[in-house]
Amino acid sequence: MTDYSAILVETKGAVTLVTLNRPEALNALNSKVLDELIHAFAAYDSDPSQHCLVLTGSGEKAFAAGADIKEMQSQGFSDMYNANFFAGWEQVTRTRKPWIAAVNGFALGGGCEVAMMADFIIASDTAKFGQPEIKLGVTPGMGGSQRLTLAIGKSKAMEMCLTGRMMGAEEAERSGLVARVVPAAQLLEEALKTAETIAAMPPLAAVANKEMVNAAFEMPLAQGINFERRLFHGLFGSEDQKEGMAAFVEKRPGNWTGQ
Ligand code: CAA
Repeated sequence: MTDYSAILVETKGAVTLVTLNRPEALNALNSKVLDELIHAFAAYDSDPSQHCLVLTGSGEKAFAAGADIKEMQSQGFSDMYNANFFAGWEQVTRTRKPWIAAVNGFALGGGCEVAMMADFIIASDTAKFGQPEIKLGVTPGMGGSQRLTLAIGKSKAMEMCLTGRMMGAEEAERSGLVARVVPAAQLLEEALKTAETIAAMPPLAAVANKEMVNAAFEMPLAQGINFERRLFHGLFGSEDQKEGMAAFVEKRPGNWTGQ
């Protein structure tokens, strides 16, 4: 599938840029968006020429204003349960290579949850994060109650979920939800520059670093540290470790094979 319509996919050197493309609905995430994202992320993950991905929203107003309320409105419990609605997002979170969310405006409900699925978030100074599902009579459904709590702690996460209030970019950075805030006009340039930096790293080490940071969310400390050490040991079987350490000693840039 390359005839995407709900998203745009471009490659810029070794970086894939994916843009949510429903500006008329503030990039609300409907089933078509999800199907196309699953395809685009899988294509990125399996393309040996691509080493980092940036996900952003089209238009100046929104990254994504949530799951598509109009698509969900008439659904009943058995429809949602039988379809295991939202389970497809797990495929996006299984992406092994690095990816960044460049949040350019509203990241509400599912929009905030997709941003939190990324390895990290770079936000424009106009970004607004929130989990306003309570106002619709529901709750987060794409991981928000868990990932937001892990990111910013119980008190703030609980406050946001119970009041539905939005958090601005400065507060989001202070709270640890986003890695960096940049002026809106420079967001894409900064996110792509960061992605290029990552894409220039030894690819095996990039995937290993991602795996071990993520292990911190899944494993008890002793097990996580053991996992880290074993992966670290494993990289000593790679060409890029030999090259990386030789390049350091010889005072030259490394030349990576990904092997
Ligand atoms: N689903 C479907 N359509 C949406 C949408 C959404 N989540 N958010 C915005 N839109 C649509 C609006 O219906 C509107 O379309 P029409 O022009 O056809 O009426 C268009 O986008 C523009 O939106 P607004 O006119 O509302 O723009 P605004 O500037 O006045 O307000 C906003 C912006 C505060 C973000 C407001 O749109 C809003 O509150 N959106 C909904 C936010 C929300 O509740 N998100 C959670 C969704 S549920 C969810 O995500 C569940 C989950 O856990 C995954």
